[in-house]
Amino acid sequence: MAADAQETTSSGGPKHVAIIMDGNGRWAQSRGRPRLFGHQAGAQRVRDIVNACPDLGVKYLTIFAFSTENWKRTQAEVSGLMALFRLYIVREARALHAEGVRVRFIGDRIRLDEKLVTMMDELELLTAGNDRVHLTIALNYGGRDEVTRAAKRLAYEIEQGRLSHKDVDAETLSRFLDTHVLPDPDLVIRTSGEARISNFLLWQSAYAEYEFVDTLWPDFTPEEFARVCASYAERDRRFGAVKA
Ligand code: IPE
Ligand code: IPE
Ligand code: MG
Repeated sequence: MAADAQETTSSGGPKHVAIIMDGNGRWAQSRGRPRLFGHQAGAQRVRDIVNACPDLGVKYLTIFAFSTENWKRTQAEVSGLMALFRLYIVREARALHAEGVRVRFIGDRIRLDEKLVTMMDELELLTAGNDRVHLTIALNYGGRDEVTRAAKRLAYEIEQGRLSHKDVDAETLSRFLDTHVLPDPDLVIRTSGEARISNFLLWQSAYAEYEFVDTLWPDFTPEEFARVCASYAERDRRFGAVKA
């Protein structure tokens, strides 16, 4: 979507919020528990935040669950996380569907195990007719990887003679991104006090507002989410222009 298409709710809140859910490991470690305990607590938080969206006017919620760089973690943590994603789908599918949530996944599925990918496909299919909240889960997602895969597919289309290099502009490239059906995020929130993007939605966040909060993800409440969304409404988005 064009960078000048400001998307806000009637109350001036963000229509598309993207969240870098960070701090699960530190949350667990501060309790003397293994990192996976923090990931379990973090997964439970997702439901509260999704449920808070309709009242806040947030139509699109995109959450960063696993990055293309997270494979660098210990094998135990990676396989624990993969098991947790499967468990999350099993446990939450019905409730998400009942709440009218349309679930999508972005990221490269090639490195994910077949069983998990099948479950992801099934959840997308089950919820395809829903429109109350659009939940997008970024799993084995990296912004550079996404743009690289898009460029590769675009190059292939040109090679096959279906597109000309003259057709290549930002709009065309966007159509090849995993997020092609989604509007750009208005607000990107990162929990846990780190002020970096860590390869999340690089292209799409060109004009997003950022909010970095110190709260660790398992402690991030719907109340804090509502406060951050309310503070978004105070911001002046100029998209490079000067307001009259
Ligand atoms: C975020 O929490 C979840 C994932 C990256 C999967 P972390 O696991 O990064 O938690 P910290 O940053 O180590 O506390
Ligand atoms: C970003 O968090 C990825 C997710 C939240 C899934 P990381 O914890 O992986 O990021 P860095 O390593 O601190 O930059
Ligand atoms: Mg982290």
